[in-house]
Formats: sequence, structure tokens, C-alpha cells
Amino acid sequence: MTDLAPKNGAPLLSVDGLSVDYRLKGTSLPAISDVSFELKAGEAVALVGESGSGKTTTAMAIAGLLPPNAAVSAGAVRYRGERLPIEDDAAMRPHRWSETSVVFQGAMNALNPVHRVVRQIAEPCMLKLGLSRDKARAKAMELLELVGIPGDRGAAYPHELSGGMRQRVMIAMALSCNPSIVIGDEPTTALDVITQAQILKLLGELRVRLNLGLILITHDLSVVAEACNRVMIMYAGRIVEEGSVADIFAAPRHPYTQLLIASIADPASGNRAIQSIPGDPPNLQTRPSGCAFHPRCPSVMDICAAAIPDFERTERGCVACHLHSHVQPLAKVSAHARRY
Ligand SMILES: Nc1ncnc2c1ncn2[C@@H]1O[C@H](COP(=O)(O)OP(=O)(O)O)[C@@H](O)[C@H]1O
Ligand code: SF4
Ligand SMILES: [Mg+2]
Repeated sequence: MTDLAPKNGAPLLSVDGLSVDYRLKGTSLPAISDVSFELKAGEAVALVGESGSGKTTTAMAIAGLLPPNAAVSAGAVRYRGERLPIEDDAAMRPHRWSETSVVFQGAMNALNPVHRVVRQIAEPCMLKLGLSRDKARAKAMELLELVGIPGDRGAAYPHELSGGMRQRVMIAMALSCNPSIVIGDEPTTALDVITQAQILKLLGELRVRLNLGLILITHDLSVVAEACNRVMIMYAGRIVEEGSVADIFAAPRHPYTQLLIASIADPASGNRAIQSIPGDPPNLQTRPSGCAFHPRCPSVMDICAAAIPDFERTERGCVACHLHSHVQPLAKVSAHARRY
């Protein structure tokens, strides 16, 4: 695996003001807006939010895997300081899977049911790394061992493996082209609690062993505490709070983060899911003006529906909420607010 030092002291990954729109029935609608963050080698960052908040869109944009009806409308993604051509499908081809790879949810759908798993891991090694069939097969066996599957199980078909084993195969596939960044997009969502913990432990061990940058996408804040160093909370396509795991759990500042944490900590509910927050998250067509959380926010103020709060950076992390910023005249923020 590659552990090259970033050029010019640049971070492994830097996402700067990234915005992606989807074309739907002739209209372009913003799915993610002004997303910015950095990731260092060996660091694990969680991206947390309800369904539809834009987590997968963010991952796909970074990995160069956006669907055809998506367009990057602003911003840049840099890998070791070098800008990636994420808006150009053909130009992105050499970068795809070899720098950033994605482990998707639901391994059964992603694996080919008619091929043995060792072949499915060996194929990208032949195609992207130019290895011979024998060398690719040997590498696939090594990768299986690395993710805790005895090499001889490589002869199995996906349906012969348990859900946890299949997700391990997906992780081996994600590592096949020696990426420096792995994005786990809800990689444990379909698994039972014990297997979830095993897969998170495996990702953590691989991160340390291979010095990977890991982005763990989840709708479940409770998985974040042990697996990640830093957390980004996403709502309606924007990052609304970011900080260290310790700071976010000890003193969340954004009302949405506070509700997410309360929903985990409430033993009476017996339900750690995010859905315990009253109201529904908006879809692309119904995103509210100003702070998109305002219809559900217990602390809503007059300005909240009118103006998108700035992302304030402090020593303790970042937050985008008018409770934590100086209330600005509407004229100053209207350019941003007009996007909706
Ligand atoms: N290919 C697509 N075409 C149109 N809208 C999409 C497409 N993919 C996702 N969306 C919409 O974009 C928003 C963000 O989706 P997504 O990034 O998948 O969120 P998450 O991963 O947080 O659930 C959602 O409202 C979703 O319905
Ligand atoms: S900006 Fe307003 S509506 Fe949004 S989270 Fe802060 S207080 Fe609530
Ligand atoms: Mg998703």
C-alpha cells in the first residue's frame, strides 16, 4: 500500500467548497453545497446525517463515481495537493479506485453471484495494476488473509459466505488497487450488531496498518465514537458541524447535533436511530430556505428562514448556526440564500 508523504505538505485529501447538483426533469437541484474538509493519512473521519442529507453524493464526487445526471457546480477535490478532474468522467478514469475507493453497503448486491470471490478481487488487480493472472490471484489471496478470510475460502461463491464475510470481501476489493483513502458508505448497516463491531474493528486495524485515510459514512452516530477521530454532521447537503469526537459528544453546539446525540443517549426510547428527531428531513425539491433545519429546530429564530448561517471556524471545530454567529444583515447573505 502506498504511504508516500503528501507533496508540499498538502493533506492527503482536501475538499474545498464542493457543490453537486442533480438534473431532475430538466431542473438542476443542489444535492450538496459548499462542502469543505481535509483528511490526513491515518485519520478516520465520520460523515453523519439522516438519509438524503448528501453523504453518498459527497463520497461519489470524491471518488469520481457520480451518476450521469449529476454535475459538479462548484469547488474542488485535491489528492495530495493535486486537483482531481472529478467533473470529467474520462479524465478521472486513471484516478478511480487507485487513490480513493469505496466500500458500499449491502455486499450481496455489489458482488457478482456467478464468480468466485478470489476472481472478483483479482480482476481489478489485472485491469488497473496490469498484474498477470497468477500474480493477481496471489495478491487476491493476500488481501483475503489481510481482511481475516483464509485464502482457501477465495474459491467460494458470494452466496456461500456469511454477510460479514462478504463485507470483508468488499473491503479486500476496495484495497485491491492500493488506495490511500477508503470511504465506507454505511458499510455495516445491513449487518447484525456483533458483525458490525467486527467490521468496524477491521477497518480501524487496516487504517492503522496501511496508514489509510478513512471516511466512515453512517446515519448512526453511535458507531462513530470508537471508530473515528473526527466527526462531520451533514444536514440537507451541507456540513453543519465538525469537530473532534470528544468535543462533539461532550459539547455539541448545533441543535441538530444535540438532537442526534440525545437520540442515542435516551435509554427510554430503546431506539438509537436518528428518526427520533421530530419531523422529516427535506428532499431535493423541498429544501427549506435559510438554515434548512429551521422547520425542525427547537431554537429557531426569525433570521433562520431567511439566511444560511456562515460556517464559523473556532479552535473547537466548526459550526453553521445563527446561535453561534453574529446576526448578519440579510443583504450580506442573500447571494447564498438565493441558491434555494
Ligand atoms: N442520481 C440521483 N438523481 C437525483 N437525485 C438523487 C440522485 N442520487 C441521490 N439523489 C438525491 O440527492 C439527495 C442526497 O442523496 P444521497 O447523497 O444519496 O444522500 P445520503 O447518502 O445522505 O442518503 C437525496 O435527496 C436523494 O434523493
Ligand atoms: S440556524 Fe437557526 S434554525 Fe438553524 S440550527 Fe441554528 S438556530 Fe436552528
Ligand atoms: Mg447514502
